[in-house]
Amino acid sequence: MSSRKGIVLAGGSGTRLYPITHSLSKQLLPLYDKPMIYYPLSVLMLAGLREIAIITTPADQDQFRRLLHDGSQWNMSFTYVTQPRPEGLAQAYVLTEEFLGGAASTMVLGDNIFFGHGLPELLRSAAGRAEGGTVFGYRVSDPERYGVVDFDAEGRVLSIEEKPEKPRSNFAVTGIYVLDGSAPARAAKVRPSPRGELEITELLNSYRAEGLLNVERMGRGYAWLDTGTHASLLEAGNFVRTIEDRQNLKMGCPEEIAFAQGWISADELRALAAPYLKTEYGRYLVRVADGA
Ligand code: TTP
Repeated sequence: MSSRKGIVLAGGSGTRLYPITHSLSKQLLPLYDKPMIYYPLSVLMLAGLREIAIITTPADQDQFRRLLHDGSQWNMSFTYVTQPRPEGLAQAYVLTEEFLGGAASTMVLGDNIFFGHGLPELLRSAAGRAEGGTVFGYRVSDPERYGVVDFDAEGRVLSIEEKPEKPRSNFAVTGIYVLDGSAPARAAKVRPSPRGELEITELLNSYRAEGLLNVERMGRGYAWLDTGTHASLLEAGNFVRTIEDRQNLKMGCPEEIAFAQGWISADELRALAAPYLKTEYGRYLVRVADGA
């Protein structure tokens, strides 16, 4: 079996961020000191994934390519896939069927920000399951805005409902989906919902119906942040700044992760830093290369 691949879903219309996203992809907007897509990309890199599909709108693809190239600068491989219209999260698996070639995958939504000790281990342990799917339930104050998961006393999943009016629990399904190689075939069977989207909830329910869905709780020690509105975008940026200033370490820095994973050498990292030396970002990369 081929090894697990990554997907960043970075299309969508970003209507809640208008007028900013009228001519710019949401996932290219700055989150403090770096483009938003660096954060979900970093999550996949921390999970050890080097072969990644980046799904964008047709209009935005060139800009993503200009930022991220083909991945070889980080000794990775990026495949660009376009989603002509934002027809739902489950469509990602229809669009990446060829890229995946039967492999299992981990997908992260391009506007989801995760932070917390042990995240790589959490993802690696979910990825260790040969069959089925794993998603993460996170306690939120406004579950009706998300897919909501209900558990029984033993922690078994009773239901997952998309944006329910009366949520059965406070646990939202986060934007990380660790699925086996059957995801594209399952997604092909999902029919558009009343709002015209291929709902990820329906794809997850196809796993659940066969007893193949694991929902793990992502505990309160993790931050799962939203960037979909003007206020939440600013708040998430402030969160990054607070953590980075306090620790003098960067959150969601792909160059640093590529180096830490042993995918690029210290000299390669210095070369990547060279064009950025006017910024703290570039100087940080040099410090990391120097082991300082
Ligand atoms: P949403 O926040 O649900 O949608 P959106 O980004 O289009 O924004 P808005 O609600 O303001 O119009 O999407 C979650 C993430 O998934 C986001 O990163 C965009 C991405 N997405 C796609 O790439 N394709 C899709 O069809 C949908 C629905 C979302």
